[in-house]
Amino acid sequence: MKGLQNKVVIITGAANGIGKATALRFAEEGAKVVVADFADGSAALAEVKAKGAEGLCVQVDVTDPASVKAMVDKAVAAFGRVDVLINNAGITKDAMMKKMTAEAWNDVIAVNLTGVFHCTAAVVPHMLEQKSGVVLTSSSVVGIYGNLGQTNYAATKWGVIGMTKSWAKEMAKNGLRFNCVAPGFIGTEMVKKIPEQVLKEKILVKVPAGRLGEPEEIAAAFAFLASDDARFINGTVLSVDGACTL
Ligand code: CAA
Ligand code: NAI
Repeated sequence: MKGLQNKVVIITGAANGIGKATALRFAEEGAKVVVADFADGSAALAEVKAKGAEGLCVQVDVTDPASVKAMVDKAVAAFGRVDVLINNAGITKDAMMKKMTAEAWNDVIAVNLTGVFHCTAAVVPHMLEQKSGVVLTSSSVVGIYGNLGQTNYAATKWGVIGMTKSWAKEMAKNGLRFNCVAPGFIGTEMVKKIPEQVLKEKILVKVPAGRLGEPEEIAAAFAFLASDDARFINGTVLSVDGACTL
């Protein structure tokens, strides 16, 4: 991909799953990778460095603005700037609406929606000063079409689309780009929590590709949208879902 060499990228939720695959993809592209996660990201960072890339591991809770500010401060102290933020950290707390607690609602909103606000708010001043920068968000097929048992999660994943489009309208004139990836069902820990029978009989049967996506297939979309090849793409949502939304 064009223009990712030496770019400084912060990826939240990069210790595992899609975030980790994205960290490794950006390492391959020659970027400087900040592996930011609530969980221990040292193993992911070791893999980033094994690819010959520079990197940094930061423990962050995206729900806490002070923790997020410290993450961005550490990235700037280490590498002097932030070129790309990938808002990837996310959780599920699934339950049918009749059983969904206010706690499950609040927890998912805090990470998947408010966390995206905090992280973006912390990098935007740097990017405005630089007159360049890319912020990517992670929606989902569930955000666009809804899903049984995911009132809270669907609200956040539809919400990040509106946030992303609003930011593009506000700041495209400043040289900043904001785009969203909407994955289908991808083989990570998150999907492993789906009851096996539901996954097999209710979900996979509706995916024309006939399989779960791989984290690397989402990482590729993030890399493209962050690259100079996507320089006129702003405020869009890229579905990467094996046609399950058709
Ligand atoms: N799609 C279609 N049908 C579903 C479904 C789904 N996602 N989830 C549950 N159902 C069906 C069940 O098969 C069951 O049908 P029958 O009555 O015909 O047997 C019915 O709904 C009730 O389900 P349960 O008996 O499991 O009810 P429960 O109250 O014990 O549990 C639940 C409800 C917690 C929602 C559980 O069913 C569940 O975890 N379902 C999966 C939800 C899901 O798809 N989560 C996606 C996680 S991955 C992700 O979020 C990433 C992403 O962005 C794609
Ligand atoms: P995952 O569960 O493998 O990884 C999520 C990571 O986020 C974990 O490392 C976790 O520690 C981190 N995290 C959770 N809360 C955090 C917090 N408060 N602060 C910092 N980090 C935190 O999940 P996966 O599948 O890799 O998901 C990544 C993103 O992709 C999520 O936003 C998810 O909603 C989205 N997505 C996933 C799909 C899938 O099918 N796996 C489909 C569509 C979207």
